[in-house]
This record gives sequence, structure tokens and C-alpha cells, in this order.
Amino acid sequence: MKGLLITIDGPAGAGKTTVSRQVAERLGCRYIDTGALYRAVALAARTAGIEPENDAGLTRLCEALHLDVVRTETGMRLLANGEDVTDRLRTPEITRLASAVSARPPVRHFLLTVQRTLGCGKRVVFEGRDMGTVVFPDADRKFFLEADIDARARRRHSELAADSDQTLEAVREAIRQRDDNDSARALAPLKPAEDAIRIDTTFLDIEGVIAAILAHC
Ligand code: DC
Repeated sequence: MKGLLITIDGPAGAGKTTVSRQVAERLGCRYIDTGALYRAVALAARTAGIEPENDAGLTRLCEALHLDVVRTETGMRLLANGEDVTDRLRTPEITRLASAVSARPPVRHFLLTVQRTLGCGKRVVFEGRDMGTVVFPDADRKFFLEADIDARARRRHSELAADSDQTLEAVREAIRQRDDNDSARALAPLKPAEDAIRIDTTFLDIEGVIAAILAHC
């Protein structure tokens, strides 16, 4: 079967994860959540006591870090040097640290190679921030999902509701800070590729977004 690369970028809470997973399943593609790769680097840095501003420390860390994406019945699992870290990546602390380390050149350089290797010649849907602009500028189809910040905060808050006591306002503020960090950084900032199809998901449900994407594939 011929390779097929689809990129789905956008800010936190725009609906990328659910949509990307479903689109991948319906097109018979593998799904790769690249945010999880940044989160795994953040977790490894925290475990090693390396601050996000310490580029020399991050370089050494990345040189010794091997990331593997494994597909299981319960979805994508991420192994860092052979250890399954998937269930440790979604805490508020790792979320904040992932945004901080993702601005650092050694981390972006390291993950660029990891991501391109994962995509090489395969059928894959990649979800992230710079998939269409930097990692796969020649992707077959590029999408950029966006939504009003209040809608994104409400979605994220209801996703978290069962395991978190964060208020809607705190969730909104965390998203706003992450939007600022991810869009303002010098390297591979969050922005739509010029040839990306932009979809505003504020007033669409998941099925509506999936249908809009599949119509272009
Ligand atoms: O998608 P996510 O929330 O799991 O991503 C965590 C952080 O990783 C996000 O704040 C920005 C960074 N990231 C990135 O810089 N580039 C990507 N392709 C994916 C994520």
C-alpha cells in the first residue's frame, strides 16, 4: 500500500486528538500524537533534574533517550528507554514542562529526526503543532484545527473533570499561557502552514470535523 502522510496541527483543546485518532482509523493509518513525544522528554528531564533552560543538559539527555511508539489494543503507548511512560505524561506539571522544553533547540532537533523516522514511507496521521510547517512540509494533506479559547477551555475542563479539581478559569488560563508559549517561540512556532486547510471547530461536533477532514482526503 502506498504511503500517506496527513498532518493535523492546532492549539490545545481544538479537538485534534479525538479527531486525529478517528481519521487515522477510518483511513487505515497509524496515529502518532507528537505532543506525547515532547511530554516524554519533559518527564525524562524532570526525572534527571534538568531544568528546561539547560540546553547542554537537554542535549545529553536526548543523546541517551530512545523513544518508541508501540500500537496496542488500548491505543498508542510510548516507551522511553524501554519503559512505558504513557500514563505519566498528562499531569499539569508535565503539561507545563512539555511546553517549556518544546521551545529548546536540542529537543526540537532530536524529535525532528524521531518524527521523520516514524513517518517514513508509511500511512500515518500526525497530530502536533508544526507537523505541516516544519516536520512534513510535503505531507499529502495538511489540516489546522482552531477554536475560540472559551470553547477549548470548556472542552478541556470537561475532559479533566473526573480526575481534577481545577476550575474552568484555571484551565482557561493554563491554555492561554500554553498558546502564548507555543506561538511565540522562535523555533517552529504554532501556526498554520500556508497550504493547510483550516477548520474552525468552535461550533462543530467531532463527527462534523471528521467529515470535513475526510471530504478532503
Ligand atoms: O499536544 P500536547 O498538548 O500533548 O503537546 C504538549 C506540548 O508539546 C505543547 O505545549 C507544545 C509541544 N508540542 C510541540 O511543540 N510540537 C508538536 N509537534 C507537538 C507538541
